[in-house]
Amino acid sequence: MNILSIETSCDETACAVVENGTKCLASTIATSKELHESTGGIVPEIAARKQLEFIVPVIDKTLKDYCAAAGKTRQEAIESIDSIAVTAGPGLIGSLLIGVEAAKALAVAWNKPLIPVNHLVGHIYANFLTENTEETLPIQFPCVVLIVSGGHTDLVLMKGHGDFEFIGSTLDDAAGEAFDKTARLLGLSKYLGGAELSKLAETAVQPQPSFLPRPMLDKDNYDFSFSGLKTSVKRIIESGIYSTEHVAYEFEEAVVDVLVTKTIKATKEYGAKTILLGGGVSANKKLRNRMQAAGESIGVYVRIPSLKLCTDNAIYIASAAYFINTPKKIEEVTADPSLTIMSNFGNNGN
Ligand code: KG4
Ligand code: ZN
Repeated sequence: MNILSIETSCDETACAVVENGTKCLASTIATSKELHESTGGIVPEIAARKQLEFIVPVIDKTLKDYCAAAGKTRQEAIESIDSIAVTAGPGLIGSLLIGVEAAKALAVAWNKPLIPVNHLVGHIYANFLTENTEETLPIQFPCVVLIVSGGHTDLVLMKGHGDFEFIGSTLDDAAGEAFDKTARLLGLSKYLGGAELSKLAETAVQPQPSFLPRPMLDKDNYDFSFSGLKTSVKRIIESGIYSTEHVAYEFEEAVVDVLVTKTIKATKEYGAKTILLGGGVSANKKLRNRMQAAGESIGVYVRIPSLKLCTDNAIYIASAAYFINTPKKIEEVTADPSLTIMSNFGNNGN
């Protein structure tokens, strides 16, 4: 089964063709990130205008690449596509609408089923992609999933495909947001500085005992809170006691400590057989290494998407559409910026 997918939830315009939810046959991503770097934050109106500018060329390039890879004419390529999938939310309304309307137009023109996908569920399905369709992934249900993106930090129990139970979430800033705000406080990139902060942290020589709190670790629940950490960082920077690389190191340590400890606790409590990570922050090297080591120590398989699949793309949108496979009537598919991880279009009936 081949799915053509479209993702336009924020500042990336992406399209892909994926076979059986696991093998990417073609993928294109255009981004307006540089523009938002220059303004120090995303301007939704500009992101939406760029989505509009990019969407047709991105779909066209994906189809060309798919034709070339599969040795098909354009007509044969279109005929070989079984469904169209599109990110319905969460995200910026102006950006989402471009992708949703483009996907609807293709579904009508080509007479294909249309599958709306929750972007956060998409991040989870980055774990189900392989470079080789013959590969059998050792993912066993139930899985505990940690989703750490720019706007969300969620812990969920995945009992099967599309079958999710909410475990916990952030009460304020998402982990990615905390990385970005702290990067800004440290004078690094003004927009999505998480990766840059992490690089700076790597240059710190082993610092003194930790000087930042581990928020919510003492609470008997699975919720997170990162805004206080950012405030502590601000105070520490103002005090001038520590160098910026030390602060970056300690901030990353604190976030990773909390994320790993809560994930492992949930894994034990729910008897999960696999831990899955998803979202932009799962590209963080320290988080990847610590989670792998912690999983190993309790005998649980940890699966983390390859780096290029951690950040936004259309490949995992097709994968989620394949495994959950809930087409909707074209007129019922709408962009919904406020979707949460539980609005999963799976067997919860939404
Ligand atoms: O999932 P994503 O690409 O977009 C959303 O759906 O939000 O996540 C973007 C977030 C940003 O906050 C970015 O700073 C963060 O992921 N990020 C990282 C790293 N790479 C991306 N945070 C920490 N370390 C990284 N290496
Ligand atoms: Zn994302």
